[in-house]
Amino acid sequence: MNDERFEHLRTPVPGPRSLALQTLLERYESRGVTYLAPHYPVFWESAHGATVTDVDGNRYLDLTSAFGVANIGHTNPTVTAAIMQQATHLIHGMGDVHPTEVRARLLEVLARITPGNLQKTYLAAGGAEAIEFARKTAFLATGKPHTLAYTGAYHGLSLGTLDVIGIAKFRDPFAALLDARTTFLPFPNAATRARCRSEHRRDLARTDSRPRRCYRSPQRLLARTARALRRARRVADSR
Ligand SMILES: Cc1ncc(COP(=O)(O)O)c(C=O)c1O
Repeated sequence: MNDERFEHLRTPVPGPRSLALQTLLERYESRGVTYLAPHYPVFWESAHGATVTDVDGNRYLDLTSAFGVANIGHTNPTVTAAIMQQATHLIHGMGDVHPTEVRARLLEVLARITPGNLQKTYLAAGGAEAIEFARKTAFLATGKPHTLAYTGAYHGLSLGTLDVIGIAKFRDPFAALLDARTTFLPFPNAATRARCRSEHRRDLARTDSRPRRCYRSPQRLLARTARALRRARRVADSR
């Protein structure tokens, strides 16, 4: 089937153009921006609705909505028309120095549609900036500089997010610059469940230890996660 709405592979993935562009990027882009590996990444060329086409003409169904940025569809005609109209008017308004009416109107709409009494918005340009702002907000609200984070978690590569990133290969090269104010917890997923079960078997083999309990179903996993978060809340409140 070669219907444009569906996935269709014309070359191995990544294809030859993706591999060639990877070489170009590796040569000219600062390290620490795009994650590069022997067969990663695939370079995107265009996207419409939920379909993405790469530079080799391979088509994929985008189940990520591009980190949620395209959650009403790639190149959505309404969004595209609004961007084009704004681009003919004013592209850059000097952000926090000379704001624009369209920005104030957007914030007003966001205040109207967000749940509860949430009224204030921080417009971030990316994920790392949002995480840093969340940390600053939490600090101002609580006065506490410590953060709990999960091992394996990815939060971006800026200095303020490396503090809370749970992936050693991104964190370790900058360890001397980090504030060591983050406590890392294991994320309760299938992998930690398997580890727990093997530790449980080991505990059973030892007469002097109390076997640990492992969750057996998604419901138990969620209940366990909720308990762990409540415990973490108590720990955070007591510091
Ligand atoms: C959960 C999460 N937080 C933060 C980020 C960082 O986003 P950005 O690359 O826009 O800084 C990402 C990016 O993949 C992410 O997945």
